[in-house]
Amino acid sequence: MTDFASIKYGEKEWIYPIIEGSEGERAIDISELRSDSGLVAYDPSYSNFAVCKSAITYIDGESGILRYRGIPIEELVKRPDFVEVAWLLIFGHKPEKDERERFRKRLTKNAHLPERMRHHFEGFPATAHPMAVTSAMINALSCFYPELFNSEWDVEFEEISAELISKIRTIAAYAYRRSKGLPYIYPDPKLRYCANFLHMLFSMPYDQYVADPEIEDALNLLFILHADHEQNCSTSTVRIVGSSQANLFASCAAGVCALWGRLHGGANVAVMEMLQQIHDGELTVKQYIEKAKQKDSGCKLMGFGHRIYKNYDPRARILKASCHRVLQKLQISDPLLDIALQLEEAALEDPYFTERKLYPNVDFYSGIIFRAIGIPTDMFTVMFVIGRLPGWIAHWHEQREDPTLRIARPRQIYTGPTPTSGQNCAEKI
Ligand code: ACO
Repeated sequence: MTDFASIKYGEKEWIYPIIEGSEGERAIDISELRSDSGLVAYDPSYSNFAVCKSAITYIDGESGILRYRGIPIEELVKRPDFVEVAWLLIFGHKPEKDERERFRKRLTKNAHLPERMRHHFEGFPATAHPMAVTSAMINALSCFYPELFNSEWDVEFEEISAELISKIRTIAAYAYRRSKGLPYIYPDPKLRYCANFLHMLFSMPYDQYVADPEIEDALNLLFILHADHEQNCSTSTVRIVGSSQANLFASCAAGVCALWGRLHGGANVAVMEMLQQIHDGELTVKQYIEKAKQKDSGCKLMGFGHRIYKNYDPRARILKASCHRVLQKLQISDPLLDIALQLEEAALEDPYFTERKLYPNVDFYSGIIFRAIGIPTDMFTVMFVIGRLPGWIAHWHEQREDPTLRIARPRQIYTGPTPTSGQNCAEKI
């Protein structure tokens, strides 16, 4: 096997090394291409571009494989524990007993928001989208804890991680309570991560919400399945912002904005809108499928397709099974699940979808479980944020530790007016 590739242009030829990852993925290292040849590589959506080396998450999209730090996702959801998986992603190994205890203590200690920060929520209109509030509040955290960014790095990174992973629940719950005009519920130090979040979402001052263990498990599972997905749009955003040495909170706030879009995390909301539209009789399943196939309809089969997976997304497989389990346990019969199943069946029998290798992705079934838990639709993407945060933190940290890190700065191919064409325009006027 050759361990180099050559690029020929005109009379010249340049040789570039092939680098190989631990799972055998190979790439041409063209980092010297421009200085050698004056050429740059053009790949606008980064479909063929590896932007970094990373030891966090491995995906084999052709075979439907997802592993965090080498551990298959199917194993991590057997007894779902989101906090343990968050540690695994960030620190590279499953926590030892003392590490787990220390981290849980840090999460408990950090659950409260500073009282002055709580007042910020009042400044937002009740109609504010919870993703806008979440992004703003994550960024605002850096105003309250400037000392974290000046401290001894190794010691404090665990504290900063716990700070963010813990407070995101409180921020999300307060954003929800604010939008509903409900009183804020303080975190309860006796509760575990997911139960505490559900308590802040759903308790009343006179009536504590007690989470069913099945719901707690389902939420742990959902968060784990969202926890990382290598160089997706929001994680790449976090890395790009972090490459300028912006702090962790600022970088993650940018990640929230990237996740918001309908083609990324916002798809879980779009899926529910699609299912509801069919349920309300606006279109039948067959009509929706036909519309999604027409490029000029502006409509897609939401929750289907993926840049990397050209096979069934393993997260969707797990969520589909979990949907049935949770709804059965809670004795809920959700007509939207039936519609989702019909849509999936119709799409997987249609050559348009099979030829393009379009399968359900993580967002196709997640909303039905969130709905069964009682989470309102406009909070779904915020739930994705809570899940994805450990992944963002892990990537931000991995990049920061890389001694070869340089600021991310893509090139472009300029297609605007030239001084000559600009002059011509002026003459015409
Ligand atoms: N419905 C209908 N057609 C689709 C869909 C879909 N959901 N997804 C892709 N296609 C078509 C494209 O139009 C294209 O057709 P063509 O070859 O005739 O031009 C072909 O399938 C290949 O798709 P791409 O555009 O190359 O896919 P890309 O990698 O750019 O986009 C994406 C991936 C954004 C996920 C896309 O599949 C999509 O929009 N899906 C719906 C939104 C969604 O579910 N997003 C969540 C993704 S998971 C996540 O971010 C958490």
